[in-house]
Amino acid sequence: TIRAVVRGVGHYLPERVVENAEFEKTLDTTDEWIRTRTGIERRHFAAEGETTSHLAIKAAEAALADAGMQASDIDAIVVATSTPDHTFPSVATMVQAGLGSTTGFAYDVQAVCAGFIFALTNANGLILSGQAERVLVIGAETFSRIMDWTDRGTCVLFGDGAGALILEAEDGTGTNADRGILSSDLHSDGRYRELLYVDGGVSTTGGAGVLKMQGNQVFKHAVTKLAQTAEKALEKAGMSASDVDWIVPHQANLRIIKATSEKLGLTLDNVVVTVADHGNTSAASIPLAMSVGKARGQIKQGQVIVAEAIGGGLAWGSVVLRW
Ligand code: ACO
Repeated sequence: TIRAVVRGVGHYLPERVVENAEFEKTLDTTDEWIRTRTGIERRHFAAEGETTSHLAIKAAEAALADAGMQASDIDAIVVATSTPDHTFPSVATMVQAGLGSTTGFAYDVQAVCAGFIFALTNANGLILSGQAERVLVIGAETFSRIMDWTDRGTCVLFGDGAGALILEAEDGTGTNADRGILSSDLHSDGRYRELLYVDGGVSTTGGAGVLKMQGNQVFKHAVTKLAQTAEKALEKAGMSASDVDWIVPHQANLRIIKATSEKLGLTLDNVVVTVADHGNTSAASIPLAMSVGKARGQIKQGQVIVAEAIGGGLAWGSVVLRW
């Protein structure tokens, strides 16, 4: 069987780190509130002029180095983002040019915080259908550009960053037979648009707009829907939660991460957690956590990973893979 196997992983975080305490100067909030309600301690913000494609290119270079590959080895680039540099062209084609590649094809996928799960599923489809052998999948965001800095309920939650994964087709035999992406499970329900959206855009205001969120409502959907989709994806892979080595969740809120892992019968010992240092980096959070998890020595070859995410749309889903 042909499988999409992980060959490399990498990430990039902008230099500027902003601690919770900095928000105390301009907002009616405290480090204590942010820490206890979200688990977030600090986040990175892109510098002026530093765009989503810049972050994506740096993460891609790190993943290529990790895989021992050149840009010319890549057939397809899929970027998950809701904060592209421009309305068009896609960030993915800007990454392609930035890496110096003129072959293959590149495009963006947009499913907000669940974007990386959708992009990974899409890349898996490219490989299983024979359209591409090696796919660079990136999650990259600059959510700092769509924040309302007067809204304490949202602006303390998000950060900027990028993560990248390289998948390669492998005709698995022997011990490698069960490596790679094993299953995926995707959902959306557009009735919940008002819970999490940006109040501008090309076809409405013509401007970028700012993020609006009914946090406590999203929280409730997150806890139930994430556990359900993770269970569904595991079932599709012929597995159960007891087979899981690591949950790599979307990093929005430590309380959501904890509640979801408990619903699956697992503890935080089985979860790669980066939310304290990154905040919510939307589509970048899962590949960032995979890269950091591998660097920490948590994620190792042969282990079973379930990645899950939910975000604006609402859109949510999960992927099960053996690293
Ligand atoms: N500092 C101090 N107080 C605050 C802050 C802050 N930064 N933000 C909100 N509060 C206040 C509220 O005003 C409210 O006060 P009130 O009771 O006087 O009205 C109180 O804290 C409680 O507010 P809630 O929103 O009910 O607090 P909650 O415990 O739900 O935490 C949070 C809020 C952190 C936003 C949480 O709901 C959350 O994480 N939600 C999910 C976010 C998420 O997962 N998003 C999905 C992905 S994002 C994407 O797709 C782009």
